[in-house]
Amino acid sequence: MSNTPLAIVILAAGKGTRMKSDKPKVMHELAGRPMINWVIESAKALKPETIITVIGPDMPELKKAVEPHDIVTQKERNGTGGALKCALPKLKGFKGDVLILLGDCPLITTKTMKALIKARSKDLTTSLSVLGMHMDNPTGYGRIIADKNGIVSHIVEEKDANKAEKSIRIVNAGAFCIDSKRLESWVRKLGNDNAQGEFYLTDLPQIAAHDGAVCAMHVCENAQELKGCNSRTDLANLEKNTQNLLRENVMAAGVTMIDPDTVYLHFDTKIASDCVIEPSVFFGPNVVLEKNVTIKAFSHIEGAHVKSGAKIGPFARLRPGATIGENAGIGNFVEIKKSTIGERSKIGHLAYVGDCQMGEDVNFSAGAITVNYDGFQKHTTMIGKGVMVGSNVNLVAPVHIDDGAFIAAGSTITEDVPADALSIARDAAQIRQGWAAKYRKLRAAAAKKRKASK
Ligand code: UD1
Ligand code: MG
Repeated sequence: MSNTPLAIVILAAGKGTRMKSDKPKVMHELAGRPMINWVIESAKALKPETIITVIGPDMPELKKAVEPHDIVTQKERNGTGGALKCALPKLKGFKGDVLILLGDCPLITTKTMKALIKARSKDLTTSLSVLGMHMDNPTGYGRIIADKNGIVSHIVEEKDANKAEKSIRIVNAGAFCIDSKRLESWVRKLGNDNAQGEFYLTDLPQIAAHDGAVCAMHVCENAQELKGCNSRTDLANLEKNTQNLLRENVMAAGVTMIDPDTVYLHFDTKIASDCVIEPSVFFGPNVVLEKNVTIKAFSHIEGAHVKSGAKIGPFARLRPGATIGENAGIGNFVEIKKSTIGERSKIGHLAYVGDCQMGEDVNFSAGAITVNYDGFQKHTTMIGKGVMVGSNVNLVAPVHIDDGAFIAAGSTITEDVPADALSIARDAAQIRQGWAAKYRKLRAAAAKKRKASK
């Protein structure tokens, strides 16, 4: 990599009309992270002197998303060339390479950016480089017109292209690298005499050629990486590509996925080696799985830390603030929120645990719940180690069940329970001998009478 200083400009001011959305296009998410942040993360790895994002005037959420990096506002959305022009004042005095990226091309890798920068510095006259890719169906993309040595003469936008140009399969991925010495004069020469009446960034190669400079091209082998996002269909396709990348990374790190295509990962999901993820599992933000964890089918996990050897699911829901201890077992139709579950504790079926500190070796049976909300406030349930909570128990918080206590099935517990005690809080059973037989007889007689009167 050359030691030439680098500045990066990301164009993200477009309205994204084709998305039909109230939010800026680049704020739409892939694996839970806005597109713009995917671009910024890959750009950051190049250690540039600055990253400037061009945003629209009414995009406070986008401004926040790019922080602490610089922004510049493009007041009039008059095209990609107009957007770059807005960044010129911020680049005054900068000497080096200026890499221009599109905010709606989110999966571009650092490696590809490096290759584009390298193409720019091929020789002394190469003041510009453009990123190209092969597309079997190039519809919607600008076509790159280049000679057999890869020297670009110009780029034609789809809407301005004639039939012959439309048949070209090498398209413009949207990214450029330009020598800062040429930047200002060339950008000021961009015009808007085209089908869309916009200032096209894609006119740069032609302007460079007029100036006797050479525009080189780097053709990226992997077109999937450079697909742009202009519609919800593009977004869905990009999500597929993103998920595939994330799944590949997870499996490369030693995780077994029985049916990877059905597992949805968040960009920040951390899964240690020898975990097993069964089919149809969804990961929301902020999940950490330590080694040897099994997530069984149809589980929904977000904001949770699962310690090694624990088994979750099938059909389990872990919500934010759930910490599951080593070798613990969380079974089907169990929901855990903002709670710590001790080592080896078992919550096997049909239970709700919220705002709870649970010790180790607890058995929390089917139908048991923490009653954590009184209609106004949340309260905490403390459960010591080795506690046995029977089936269908309500633990009305705030309440403390001390070590080794037993809670009888069907109890509603409103008082603290001391260590090793039994708490039973339910009506005693009444046995009425012969009642059922008598009742059946009465019903049969009534049915006979009804039939006779018809
Ligand atoms: C653009 C390229 C096209 C290329 C394609 C690759 C131009 C003229 N066309 O087309 O050759 O094949 O990307 O995906 O450059 N933007 C602004 N301000 C504006 C307009 C756009 O900042 O006034 C930003 C958008 O937010 C977006 C990016 O520039 O992130 C590209 O704009 P978009 O309208 O999507 O261009 P395409 O039609 O995809
Ligand atoms: Mg686009």
